[in-house]
Amino acid sequence: MKSATMKVSCLVLALCSGLAFAQSSKTDWGKREFEANCASCHGLDGRGNGALGNLLRVSPPDLTQLAKKNQGIVPMNRLYEVIEGGTVAAHGTRDMPIWGREYRIEDAENLKEARGNYDAVALVRARILLLLEYINRLQAR
Ligand code: HEC
Repeated sequence: MKSATMKVSCLVLALCSGLAFAQSSKTDWGKREFEANCASCHGLDGRGNGALGNLLRVSPPDLTQLAKKNQGIVPMNRLYEVIEGGTVAAHGTRDMPIWGREYRIEDAENLKEARGNYDAVALVRARILLLLEYINRLQAR
């Protein structure tokens, strides 16, 4: 597990530096991902005041308070599982999309020309880790 995490961290670093090199060195990929996929519910600042929030049964939580609620530490493993969604027991019981599945579908669409010749699992992990790194930066200290 540890070495898997290391591999993914290296991948994220490679991905970020590669993308940053290819495009702009100023692009904040975690922020970009958050604004594109999460802000509609959790709000641009992560405080849970996104436009779609009122339409849900459960209000989106304030993501800036995660460390405060957990003795100053962002619970990365738990959040990874919540975002990835693989551990959700039953369908229809949560209001948040299952991002592991969403990303796999989106990546397959974007990388159609690769004809499955890429590491789908690693790509999903990289995207979720980028988000977690950004959520870590959003924490009220
Ligand atoms: C459609 C609205 C919606 C979108 C879009 C959304 N969320 Fe959520 N999120 C929720 C709701 C509602 C909850 C509360 C748990 C539940 O009911 O599923 C939640 C819970 C969470 C939690 C758990 C917090 C905790 O303490 O357990 C995290 C982390 C999170 N969201 C991150 C994200 C990220 C990252 C994205 C973007 C990839 C995202 N969310 C997109 C609605 C949303």
